Amino acid sequence: MQRERIVNLRDEAHIGEELTVCGWVRTFRNNQFIALNDGSCLGNLQMVIDRESIPEATQKRLTTGTAIRAKGQLEKSQGQGQLTELKVLELEVLGDADPEMYPIQMKRHTLEFLREKAHLRFRTSTFGAVFRVRHALNFAIHKFFTDGGFFQMHTPIITGSDAEGAGEMFQVTTLDVNDPPRDEAGSVDFSEDFFGKPSNLTVSGQLEAELAAMALGQVYTFGPTFRAENSNTSRHLAEFWMVEPEVAFADLADNMALAEACLKSVLRDVLSQCDEDLAFLEEREVNSEKSLPQDQRQSQPLRDRLQAVVDAPFQHVTYTEAIELLRNSKPFKKKKFKYPVEWGIDLQSEHERWLVEKHFNGPVIITDYPAGIKAFYMRSNEDGKTVAAMDVLVPGIGELIGGSQREERLDRLQAKCAEFEIPEEHIWWYLDTRRFGSAVHSGFGMGFERLVMYVTGMTNIRDVIPFPRTPQNAEF
Ligand code: 4AD
Ligand code: MG
Repeated sequence: MQRERIVNLRDEAHIGEELTVCGWVRTFRNNQFIALNDGSCLGNLQMVIDRESIPEATQKRLTTGTAIRAKGQLEKSQGQGQLTELKVLELEVLGDADPEMYPIQMKRHTLEFLREKAHLRFRTSTFGAVFRVRHALNFAIHKFFTDGGFFQMHTPIITGSDAEGAGEMFQVTTLDVNDPPRDEAGSVDFSEDFFGKPSNLTVSGQLEAELAAMALGQVYTFGPTFRAENSNTSRHLAEFWMVEPEVAFADLADNMALAEACLKSVLRDVLSQCDEDLAFLEEREVNSEKSLPQDQRQSQPLRDRLQAVVDAPFQHVTYTEAIELLRNSKPFKKKKFKYPVEWGIDLQSEHERWLVEKHFNGPVIITDYPAGIKAFYMRSNEDGKTVAAMDVLVPGIGELIGGSQREERLDRLQAKCAEFEIPEEHIWWYLDTRRFGSAVHSGFGMGFERLVMYVTGMTNIRDVIPFPRTPQNAEF
């Protein structure tokens, strides 16, 4: 079907041309003006119909959500708010949207309501904007790494390993769950399963990315990852996308610099490419915060916040220093924190938020965490207590990026495996990279949906992925 996309018809370049557009009616006012959206951009095309020449029966069908095709002449708009409008010559209804039944009407719907209508929520301005920005971010990430000489590795979705050692895996099996084969001891006999051993959906592509980095130098993975953590929060999904670069001959300082450069580069790209959508999301945020007390609202508009991140160097603090800061903080002294603060604890989101939102008021990289709360593959520091880990925290989100320098010394890594009860025969291939041509290397993982939240100002992770998977929810 030959058609012009609305995004290309909003300046004066095509004035005077006769052309065809297709899209969905947003509004039909005064029996004369149609606002048409085709998803190519946030803005609608104003179309003016001649009441006499379009049959009344057709006009009646022009309700919110109706799909139409229209042919007309693009003219300079007489009205305010748009440069161009289409004087309609021919109009055809492609698909009706019965206003009695169609749930997406031109009134404010709550995000909760729209989550239940996730198959139709793309048709709202908010979700159109979110998913166009998501696409731009996706592309900006590939561009950043490609320009930097990285190669993308498609690491497996099905694996036998638990990279993070957190045991939060979805098992993959073709065994009959009602009647699995059993061995002599009565345990399920996985030698009869599809892969001849237990397997699961990956929680991270890192371990395999490391293998590739130790040959191609710098690689990244960007794929779906799966975690069966039963945390029903606004920042956790059971299926999410993660970007994981891995770089040979890079230490923790190089890794931090890469994370900072990556984040700044993608923010710069979307700020310049998605202004219309970001302006809309900025206004949406202001409106949605109206009911909140002043101290819970954003202190700066969305685009200014993102620009500020691009402009300022990230701050660095060690875990040990962060604990000190927290113990000297007002909420700690006034016993306002729900969770204890002492050296060795995993920082809770209330602690991370105080650090980024109240103390540093911008992105901060926390390094050198206690070994006990981090994964087995992180490089041990000389102090014997901490590892060369880094988390990048940002306001409103908390942890956006987690990474580390990797333990490249075979004996140390084997000791870690023993400590974490990871049988060496399960990851013999990982240990082999430390046996042959081992070298310093580092990498990190950035949660893609958390990035989309950060950039769009959306406060629930379920609203930045088309079809969220969370505990008790895999609809659509
Ligand atoms: O900190 P995580 O668990 O680190 C790793 O998986 C490492 N293997 C990364 C690496 O070094 N290559 O996860 C990395 C990021 C987090 O910082 C967070 O942004 C995101 O992934 N993330 C989640 N996002 C949505 N839902 C979840 N359940 C998430 N769990 C982690
Ligand atoms: Mg982490």
